[in-house]
Amino acid sequence: VATAPTNTTGFVSCLAVHLTPGIVYTQASDSYPSVLEFSIKNLRFVTPATPTPLVIIKATHASHVQAAVRCGVAHGVRVRPRSGGHDYEGLSYRSIDAACPFAVIDLAALGAIRVDVRSKSAWVDSGATLGELYYGIANKSARLGFPAGVGPTVGVGGHLSGGGFGLMMRKHGLAADHVVDAVLVDAEGRLLDRAGMGEDHFWAIRGGGGGSFGVVVSWKLQLVRVPATVAVFTVHRPRNRSASDLLTKWQHVAPALPRDVILRVVVQNQDAQFESLYLGRCAGHVATMARMFPELGVRRQDCMEMSWIESVLYFAFYGTGKPAALLLDRGSKPDRYFKAKSDFVHQPIPRRVWESTWSWFLKDGAGLLILDPYGGKMGRVAPSATPFPHRRALYNVQYYGFWWDNGTEALEQHMGWIRGLHQHMEPYVSKNPRGAYVNYKDLDLGVNDYCDDSGAVNSYHKARVWGEPYFKANFERLASVKAKVDPNDFFRNEQSIPPLR
Ligand code: FDA
Repeated sequence: VATAPTNTTGFVSCLAVHLTPGIVYTQASDSYPSVLEFSIKNLRFVTPATPTPLVIIKATHASHVQAAVRCGVAHGVRVRPRSGGHDYEGLSYRSIDAACPFAVIDLAALGAIRVDVRSKSAWVDSGATLGELYYGIANKSARLGFPAGVGPTVGVGGHLSGGGFGLMMRKHGLAADHVVDAVLVDAEGRLLDRAGMGEDHFWAIRGGGGGSFGVVVSWKLQLVRVPATVAVFTVHRPRNRSASDLLTKWQHVAPALPRDVILRVVVQNQDAQFESLYLGRCAGHVATMARMFPELGVRRQDCMEMSWIESVLYFAFYGTGKPAALLLDRGSKPDRYFKAKSDFVHQPIPRRVWESTWSWFLKDGAGLLILDPYGGKMGRVAPSATPFPHRRALYNVQYYGFWWDNGTEALEQHMGWIRGLHQHMEPYVSKNPRGAYVNYKDLDLGVNDYCDDSGAVNSYHKARVWGEPYFKANFERLASVKAKVDPNDFFRNEQSIPPLR
């Protein structure tokens, strides 16, 4: 079905006919600002100049998503799904070009979680958060878990769409590796499950990035077994106490550790914080560290034992004794401006580079690096098994700059900081193309001509500039799938997959 020329009045009337009024918020609605800001996490996109949606549809049923898509196609208004609203570039609720009106289908109220302990599986709606999912699983069984991200307020919909990794990835791989079925609304407004959409489409939605292949309403997940007791530690090693040596060694050790253990690093100020989860007890955790990384000096008293769900709380909120119900808190209004970037490292970075990198953390207190090691199960999955191609990397780097001051000067200073640090690292990270993680979206890589409907400029070839860093050779297959399932490019945003015409 070709997308019609834009007719915003027709679109709003269509919604009025097909949806109950209580779930449609136009810009004239009193509650529009609070509905819009409900899940926004980044103050960069809460400004009077930010192009915001013409309408927000708060879906409470899959049929609402179908109606919104059909009205959008019929009246030339594109829709953007929003699950948890954590998109790093705000693409689930803002555009970069005010000339093209769009609507948001907000899925936050579609958040049911149905866990089946017997088959170790769960159906989860896209609007649930990771925290709600973890809480829901733990409520049914202390011996089941799910290997997804660390942030409890992250939405299931966007997270699974981009791959999703967390502290069990070395044992179990990506969150998207554990999706066994899904239900989505396609560009014709049809509700399709895995059998209905076909294997290519199903492949694309498990890591090809959100917002390109339809609106996924629900996901069926294969859960994983977790031990009754896990072990955790966090140790700080300041720069002046051999942090550069430890970072240099960490690159060799962390990707080669047994799959039951992950040792990630957060570099901030003049400090390297080593955080570790072990799917076993402290005796094994400390012995593994002593054997493979004695220089880190982890002692028995650094290690704590707890249940898996307590470890989720521990890493999310940096502490023990927090109530599990905290995982149900979707968070408050955005409290900071931020910008992130990412890299993949395949060759250990020399010590002198780590030493020179510390100066970036003197200049500006509010920035950090997160180093997430791969290896284990991550390295054993073929790079073409899902759209996420970076399986063979030693580790992922996330650059994260944040600030609280309003205004252009602060924005330029902090954006300059993160872009400069990213440039500083260029010689030492993956090349041809330099990789990036689609769930850490970065519009500096390049954008589609969101408003151009001619098809000529919004082409596959232009999009390779950002598509190949995210997906490498899988980008071409994603664009072929897109041509089959959404040939008119209805599901389009600044970094959606274009159809390979
Ligand atoms: P949001 O709703 O903004 O959607 C993101 C994109 O997906 C948008 O393009 C949107 O249109 C599309 N989309 C959303 N729902 C969809 C649906 N149902 N169907 C189709 N498309 C949909 N990542 C990680 O791998 N590990 C981690 O530990 C973390 N931790 C983390 C913490 C914090 C605080 C933040 C802000 C982010 C992370 N992330 C992360 C990154 C996170 O995985 C990424 O931003 C996800 O895309 C967010 O998903 P949401 O549903 O919240 O975003």
